[in-house]
Amino acid sequence: MSSFDLVINGKTVKANYGETLVEAGLSGWVAIPHDCNSGQCETCLVNVVSGQVDDFGTAEKNTVLACQAKVIGNAAITFDHVPDVAKRSGLVTGIAVLTSDIVEVTVMLGTPIDFRPGQYLSVKFAGFPARELSPTVRPDGTAAPGELVFHIRRYPGGLVSTQIGATIRAGHRVQVRGPFGSAFLRDGDGPIVLIGGGTGWAPIWSVAAAARREQRHRDLVVIAGSRDAEGLYMRRSLEWLIDDGVREVIATAEVGAVNGVRRGRPTHYLPSLGPEDTVYVAGPPPLVDAVKMKSRLAAARCYADPFLPNAQPLSFIDRVMAMLRRPAAAPVETPRPAVATMPAPRGRPQPATATTIPPLPAAAPRRSQAGSR
Ligand SMILES: Cc1cc2nc3c(=O)[nH]c(=O)nc-3n(C[C@H](O)[C@H](O)[C@H](O)COP(=O)(O)OP(=O)(O)OC[C@H]3O[C@@H](n4cnc5c(N)ncnc54)[C@H](O)[C@@H]3O)c2cc1C
Ligand code: FES
Repeated sequence: MSSFDLVINGKTVKANYGETLVEAGLSGWVAIPHDCNSGQCETCLVNVVSGQVDDFGTAEKNTVLACQAKVIGNAAITFDHVPDVAKRSGLVTGIAVLTSDIVEVTVMLGTPIDFRPGQYLSVKFAGFPARELSPTVRPDGTAAPGELVFHIRRYPGGLVSTQIGATIRAGHRVQVRGPFGSAFLRDGDGPIVLIGGGTGWAPIWSVAAAARREQRHRDLVVIAGSRDAEGLYMRRSLEWLIDDGVREVIATAEVGAVNGVRRGRPTHYLPSLGPEDTVYVAGPPPLVDAVKMKSRLAAARCYADPFLPNAQPLSFIDRVMAMLRRPAAAPVETPRPAVATMPAPRGRPQPATATTIPPLPAAAPRRSQAGSR
């Protein structure tokens, strides 16, 4: 079997022909960050600096996915530093209604976990299978040390998300593992274009707030989209960005767009992109794919965080718990004021509406979803 030199962040490892870059790294004691190992999460994004690899259809500019790309000769690759994967435990400390099907869940960890803005975590509410969720920040751009803020859509039939506010309430135990993902804020000088669809706003808001804190010299374009206007739960964060001097802040809705909300999809309002732009997109896979395509055509760098449905099998314990669990009744947590209307004119206090969490159908335990991870 032919053996080659693979240089990873300056360290040379011996690599066999046909091994993936992740495998080659691991056999040389260099862990390239990875999660799904199936070409979907993009955690293993690496830059090919010299030499050749078989990109296995994953090449974008000079990057490839290291869990798919294979060694075919000598090569040098680099990846950005990310915090090491760690496990932490904590408790749910709050659940607040944001829209009729989106809630904000706050978790306080015993020990903080390190992650870069835009990365995601594997989150396991006790008694349920783990789900990938993107930690974000509060509407004023902050989060307390050890505090994780999540925006979670409650999918009809969803095994975990329907239980939030029902079985999963304040005081519920949580374990998190991570961080993962490559759609995190990087240093640079060119304009940043941020697009979040639905709860894809969570990682995008985290990146936006960090960009305003740490890279104020960069122009920012921010687009938040929702299918209907009620889903634009991020109004206060958009106002925060406008107040902070970001000129291009756009909210879109396909249905019910009035009062400053533009009708249509985020892709209808993308600025004309060029090689100097860095694009971050998160949320529904069709939106992510469309933005990736537009970025590719314009030779813009694009970091993507598609919210793919998961296919994680239930553990034995989780299956027993699911059988014991009664169907969800209409839950009531103490809600914070909900944000359920159009963005108000800049600087005006928003109307607050107290809402309880409406019931969604409870899920039957499922093993996996074909064609997804
Ligand atoms: C990297 C990553 C980050 C994510 N971050 C977030 C986040 O911050 N906030 C958030 O709300 N979700 C996020 N998700 C989605 C999340 O991991 C779960 O898929 C979602 O919460 C549904 O889990 P469930 O157990 O309720 O539904 P499941 O029991 O897994 O699925 C039930 C049904 O709901 C539908 N469904 C489930 N998930 C999706 C989906 N993602 N898109 C469309 N339909 C779906 C499907 O029809 C499915 O049959 C993320 C996913 C990924 C991969
Ligand atoms: S680990 Fe390579 S795409 Fe997920």
